[in-house]
Amino acid sequence: MLDQAEGLRKEFMGVQSNTVNQKIITIASGKGGVGKSNIAVSLGIALSNLKEKVLVIDADLGLANINVLVGQVSDYNIFHVIKDLKTMDEVVMDTPYNIRIISGASGFSQIANIADSDRKNFINGIEKLNDENIIIIDTGAGIARNVISFAACADETIVVTTPEPTSITDAYGIIKAISMEPNKIDVKLLINRVKSTVEAKKVSSRIISIAKQFLDIDVEYLGFIFEDSIVPYSVIHQVPFYAYDNRSKASLCLDHIANRILNVNDRNFQKRKGISGLVDTFMNMYSKQ
Ligand SMILES: Nc1ncnc2c1ncn2[C@@H]1O[C@H](COP(=O)(O)OP(=O)(O)OP(=O)(O)O)[C@@H](O)[C@H]1O
Ligand SMILES: [Mg+2]
Repeated sequence: MLDQAEGLRKEFMGVQSNTVNQKIITIASGKGGVGKSNIAVSLGIALSNLKEKVLVIDADLGLANINVLVGQVSDYNIFHVIKDLKTMDEVVMDTPYNIRIISGASGFSQIANIADSDRKNFINGIEKLNDENIIIIDTGAGIARNVISFAACADETIVVTTPEPTSITDAYGIIKAISMEPNKIDVKLLINRVKSTVEAKKVSSRIISIAKQFLDIDVEYLGFIFEDSIVPYSVIHQVPFYAYDNRSKASLCLDHIANRILNVNDRNFQKRKGISGLVDTFMNMYSKQ
């Protein structure tokens, strides 16, 4: 399958393997509603404040909402690229927040249920994403095949959980599913909606030690975000919370996380998969259908 991926890449894209000037970050969770989409958008803005060029892709084809969070209407989305109705350029949207976004679609459960010709459209489109050096992929909740595939293609996957016991259990579930992928995936843990740093530390230590003990996987603690009323408030006003108030408790937490991502980024620069990794993963993903 990798041979086919390589062939297709050369044929349709001319993209070199081991592209290293891009970092792809997938945001995933076991339980839904833990804050992934809000984090994807506001983290993107926090990273752009640090001079990174950021694209946020809404990979949820069931219930797309990144465009809602930035208060924009999108007539077209990633699905139109797949169906060759639009080019990637036509679906990428500028925002007032110095990041670009690609909307997901509503009503399609699986991005993978597409024909060979559709796949080529998607690959051709994705090659045009080279403008940005950080691509954040927001996924739907749970351990669906496409979520795991996005995780597998990324340079790192941020698993988001809240301190709720059900969320913690489901976070372990998705870490377990990710750990079963044949290629090693860099998993980072982000605890959202915490009341204190002590609570964040307690929850993260528990997940990290259980993952080590039962899955033999090293999960890295990326940080936490405080429970902050600015988040629901900004959702109602359709302005990302970081843009609404970049000195809010939640925003300051994101600054810390963004800095951590970039520091790790620099150290691991040579290991990035970039777009070619994404293409390989999609090839594998489709081949399993
Ligand atoms: N740090 C926070 N403080 C307070 N409320 C928060 C925080 N983070 C998220 N929320 C609330 O949680 C709700 C769900 O957030 P969001 O839509 O980003 O979750 P999600 O994980 O993307 O959900 P889904 O799994 O459905 O895609 C938001 O409407 C927001 O009000
Ligand atoms: Mg979401």
